[in-house]
Amino acid sequence: MKTPIRLQPLVDDGLVDEVISQLMSGKEATVYMIRCGADIRCAKVYKEAAKRSFKKAAQYQEGRKTKNSRRGRAMEKGSKYGREEQEKAWQNAEIDALYQCAAAKIRVPVPYGCFDGVLLMELITDANGDVAPRLNDVNLTHAQAMSQHHTMMGYIVRMLCAGIVHGDLSEFNVLVDSHGPVIIDLPQAVDASANNNARAMLYRDVNNMTEYYGQFTPELLQTKYAKEMWALYEQGELEPDTALTGLFEDDIDAADIDSVLEEINAAYEDAQFKRERQQAIDNDHYDD
Ligand SMILES: Nc1ncnc2c1ncn2[C@@H]1O[C@H](COP(=O)(O)OP(=O)(O)O)[C@@H](O)[C@H]1O
Ligand SMILES: [Mg+2]
Repeated sequence: MKTPIRLQPLVDDGLVDEVISQLMSGKEATVYMIRCGADIRCAKVYKEAAKRSFKKAAQYQEGRKTKNSRRGRAMEKGSKYGREEQEKAWQNAEIDALYQCAAAKIRVPVPYGCFDGVLLMELITDANGDVAPRLNDVNLTHAQAMSQHHTMMGYIVRMLCAGIVHGDLSEFNVLVDSHGPVIIDLPQAVDASANNNARAMLYRDVNNMTEYYGQFTPELLQTKYAKEMWALYEQGELEPDTALTGLFEDDIDAADIDSVLEEINAAYEDAQFKRERQQAIDNDHYDD
């Protein structure tokens, strides 16, 4: 096809040899199938901020580290320089998250770099070599849904251990190849420890996945992986290979009992102190 204008600089630089076809144009990006030498890959061209649905950007960006303070201040003020920097931070967030996920053994497209607002990555294909379908477009047997859900919960645990919450995980952002699910679309990934919305986002990601797979395996709908995962994470007890049960006891656990007892003791001492003070006052009156 005719080279789209945003891909021309990459063609000029020899990073891309040919643009084969447009795969998809979504809210945030347009994705192309490209050829780099003998390899067929994928190029994700980010839309400019103004054309993106940016409603929740602030929620996602909270806690993101900006390495340099001039940049940080400009981003907060929203100057032109600031907007450009924010744009770059958004684009780099996806490639950073892809590298971190790959290092944590989570199936994501292999990244090849981000140049001029274009992310080059592995094209995920199915057993026939065609572009892999989205999870939303595949029919699963009970056994396949069970096994993919298990894999997916493991991926989410490993991400959390790497300090990342996807933030937009759904059946539209998971591709399925012959080995199972592949997670895509991570520009909004959030820092699990620095972002106050991380827990809510993790719950939503996990519950989206469980509800989706639960259509094929209703017994999954009773599970409580999100709460189980987050509780272990907060206690510093979540490991990349932690085997989860899907069970979570909402009742007070041992740690809570301790804090309840402490409160009861404090209230008792407080009451005792007030009683003694009142007695002292009363005694003073008698003395008078
Ligand atoms: N690495 C990839 N391999 C195959 N298809 C992909 C790949 N990345 C994206 N796509 C296709 O492009 C679509 C849009 O990509 P995505 O990263 O989800 O961007 P958007 O922000 O527009 O949703 C996906 O739903 C998928 O169909
Ligand atoms: Mg998407």
